[in-house]
Amino acid sequence: MLNAGIIGVGRYVPEKVVKNTDLEKIMDTSDEWIRTRTGIEERRIAGDDMDTSDMAFEAAKNAIEHAGISPKEIDLILVATVTPDQPFPTVACMLQDRLGATNAAAMDISAACAGFMYGLATAQQFIVSGTYRYVLVVGVEKLSKITDWSDRNTAVLFGDGAGAAVVGPVSEGRGILAFDLGADGSGGKYLYQDRYIHMNGREVFKFAVRQMGESCIRVIEKAGLSKEDVDFLIPHQANIRIMESARQRLELPVEKMSKTVHKYGNTSAASIPISLVEELEAGKIKDDQVIVMVGFGGGLTWGAVLLRWGR
Ligand code: ACO
Repeated sequence: MLNAGIIGVGRYVPEKVVKNTDLEKIMDTSDEWIRTRTGIEERRIAGDDMDTSDMAFEAAKNAIEHAGISPKEIDLILVATVTPDQPFPTVACMLQDRLGATNAAAMDISAACAGFMYGLATAQQFIVSGTYRYVLVVGVEKLSKITDWSDRNTAVLFGDGAGAAVVGPVSEGRGILAFDLGADGSGGKYLYQDRYIHMNGREVFKFAVRQMGESCIRVIEKAGLSKEDVDFLIPHQANIRIMESARQRLELPVEKMSKTVHKYGNTSAASIPISLVEELEAGKIKDDQVIVMVGFGGGLTWGAVLLRWGR
């Protein structure tokens, strides 16, 4: 049996910082409201010269370098995004060309904020089946281009950024041990995009609290483990109150949950891989630790991945 795990990671966030106090100047909101309701203090916003594929490229380049492989060794590129440069060619195809990953198949995945979980699970399946050796998975969003900056219900929540992982073979006992993916299309009306993002915050909140916790429990059971075995939780960084509910469900202490929402807001498919990179850099994730990642998003969708860290 082959084992598939994350062997390299990279991230990119735009330089421009937009603080809550900057938003106070353009809409009827307050730093206090945003902090207490969401935990967000600031977010990064990409300029006109930086589209989704540009951020994806920077994160992917870092991940490939970190993995120590050549772009030509990549068999498949999966880009989780709901904000591609255009419907087609996909961001994955644009990356394939820019990276020189000439042997890779390429496609985008649309599962909103759960997209990176869908990407990791798909990568794992291709690798454990023996079909492919290396799969590049990117989570990237330029949500600022589909944000209605006159709608305070949504505009304060989102940010731009990219995170990437190279998934490849790892030693026995390590890598992705289980995943849990799901969807409830009947809830599509609560979070959707026409020109801009529209959201029924309260309904999404209820859904997120329920599914984040339950998906964590399911993925732990699927891996044949128990709550006590989990060393670190990386939840989708949408809202600190939703993240806290997942942490409490797993009975983990505060320091064992990743928190980057205060710096970047909700970057949708990018939030989990960005957080993963930052926790690795901070030395909070070590070999053989059990990591649970969990996300939810428009669709409605959810997904959790449990892995034992290390190559
Ligand atoms: N500043 C000030 N007041 C605001 C703001 C704002 N930015 N936004 C809304 N309000 C007001 C509303 O108008 C409303 O006022 P009213 O009661 O007079 O009508 C009130 O605040 C709403 O208050 P609550 O309902 O108590 O707010 P709540 O505690 O539910 O927080 C929030 C709202 C933060 C949106 C929460 O519901 C939430 O986080 N929901 C989940 C959202 C989410 O995670 N979405 C991401 C999906 S991921 C994806 O796929 C992109």
